[in-house]
Amino acid sequence: MCGIVGYIGEKQAFPILIEGLKKLEYRGYDSAGVALVKDQGELNVYKTTGKVANLETLVDGKDIEGHVGIAHTRWATHGEPSVKNAHPHVSMDGNIAIVHNGIIENYQVLKQQLVDRGYMFNSTTDTEVLCQLIDYYYNNNGSNLLSAVCSALNDVIGAYAIVVTEKKNPHHLVAARQSSPLVVGVGKDKKEFFIASDATPIVEHTDKVVYLDDGQIADISINNGLHIVNHSNKQCQFDIKTVDMDISKLSKGGFDHFMLKEIYEQPNCLRDAMSGRLIANAEHPENNRIVLSALRDYRDRLVNARNIIILGCGTSWHAGLIGKQLIESMCRKRVSVEYASEFRYNNPVVDKDDVVIAISQSGETADTLAAIQLAKQHGALIFGIVNAVGSSIARETDTGIYLHVGPEIGVASTKAFTGQVAMLTLFALALGHETGTLSDSEYHKIIGELALIPTKMEKELEVTEKIANLAKMFTYAHNFLYLGRGFNYPVALEGALKLKEISYIHAEGYPAAEMKHGPIALVDQDMPIVFIATHHKLYEKIISNMQEVKSRKGRILAIVTEGDEHVREIADNVIEIPKTENCLVPLLSVVPLQILAYYVAVDKGLNVDMPRNLAKSVTVE
Ligand code: AGP
Ligand code: GLU
Repeated sequence: MCGIVGYIGEKQAFPILIEGLKKLEYRGYDSAGVALVKDQGELNVYKTTGKVANLETLVDGKDIEGHVGIAHTRWATHGEPSVKNAHPHVSMDGNIAIVHNGIIENYQVLKQQLVDRGYMFNSTTDTEVLCQLIDYYYNNNGSNLLSAVCSALNDVIGAYAIVVTEKKNPHHLVAARQSSPLVVGVGKDKKEFFIASDATPIVEHTDKVVYLDDGQIADISINNGLHIVNHSNKQCQFDIKTVDMDISKLSKGGFDHFMLKEIYEQPNCLRDAMSGRLIANAEHPENNRIVLSALRDYRDRLVNARNIIILGCGTSWHAGLIGKQLIESMCRKRVSVEYASEFRYNNPVVDKDDVVIAISQSGETADTLAAIQLAKQHGALIFGIVNAVGSSIARETDTGIYLHVGPEIGVASTKAFTGQVAMLTLFALALGHETGTLSDSEYHKIIGELALIPTKMEKELEVTEKIANLAKMFTYAHNFLYLGRGFNYPVALEGALKLKEISYIHAEGYPAAEMKHGPIALVDQDMPIVFIATHHKLYEKIISNMQEVKSRKGRILAIVTEGDEHVREIADNVIEIPKTENCLVPLLSVVPLQILAYYVAVDKGLNVDMPRNLAKSVTVE
């Protein structure tokens, strides 16, 4: 939630900040703002509601000079999106400016204390309270900015990534993190520094970064470089890491939206994700195998795991539901899938014999991060399935598998979902083979088929136009049902989530048979119902479920296996997908649902990549 950018160095800060904000806009887009500090100690702050483009318009003709600056794109938690609530917030005396990502949970108590001390507030945000608190310590303890920030943060409960600047001493920045991400880019000769919520705005300037840890505060100045301290102002050691990020993945590459580009990238993403991990030879399937270093390194704990608990949120949780079916069927281990947000507060039963699989695209989801920290305290092995390299969740895990699908910018997750499902499949295959619960023949056969999935996905993408045409018929709808069974039940949930996120049409996913226990009451001639009815052992049963809907005049759109004859007779429209192994079907059946959601939203004229009220990275609870 919210994107933060900071710059200090010899260049003009504004162009770097604004370009950085554009790359982080997926994190929030309620308002945008910038604070620039001039060498002679003048602070200029510009803020506007809405997108970063509005900020560019606002500053036209204004004084945007300064070698030091901070900028913010907001996802509002405390107070409506307005200019007053936009960041940066400035202290009452006009000296200190701050940008913040997160929530200060005890802000009301702190605010009252500050009001009693004579402070006044312009906004309703928690962030402004932190700003005035830093100002209080700065002015009353005779301290400098760094120790004022340390003191203020010692009073704070909550989550934050902050960057603070001041005009009295215009040549430094102070940044800190607790549970919200923050990365410092180290520029040429350590003479310039970039700060951002993730590495995407930094990589075009430098590939050298320092990931701040929880409880760390960075003091950055042109003359003294980067120093990191803890809350007691004691020096901390830090490593400068090299990031490897393909900048071309950060542009739309000729597509109208990131989401469409990311849908189309899926075949190659899966090839990248499986490269070196899935070894398949069509002529010698007996040599097919999965190579996962995580499994080699933690073999005994994984093989002997008593329970496997999968944690995630949203789309990652849906991938987890597929993971459960994969692991239970191939490894014969009990798997539970929990919403991270519930798990963390439910006094969960978890111990050192358990394995916790944390699934997260961003690697920054606050609930998932807190849930694995809790599971770790109980001694469980934490296995990450994460996309963002070096992210907080990735760093908190004991081991795991990176997705390697490249940065996902569209707020609605697509390629990360198929990447997560593919990685869970590799994991289940490898573990099932290791535990001896999956026969060699099944192991070899499924690997061989998995290797073909990217090509089959390419075939699916050839019918995008047909789905785009179908989408036109559905823009009228206010409700949708998505129904599937077995491996396609989580796909139904994911299809419904995609549609509601970007088209704002209410959509629910259900196990198809569950429909008759309630949702069928909603069915009438206006209700579109998407059945995912591919061939598997419950095929006949799902056809019966379809008949039940048809009898009530529901409009059926069915996803079927190519060549299917029966469903065609019942459904109003069908979309065929290539045939594959039942356990691999989700990788193919989700693709038309992503495309459908995309075109319904486009036809409704909505902002597909930045849907209202959402943000890509949910770093607040
Ligand atoms: C997916 O389309 C959503 N935007 C959202 O549900 C997302 O999957 C969820 O917030 C979890 O994010 P993560 O994978 O980055 O942890
Ligand atoms: N709590 C702050 C606000 O509402 C920051 C929210 C965010 O992380 O974007 O302004």
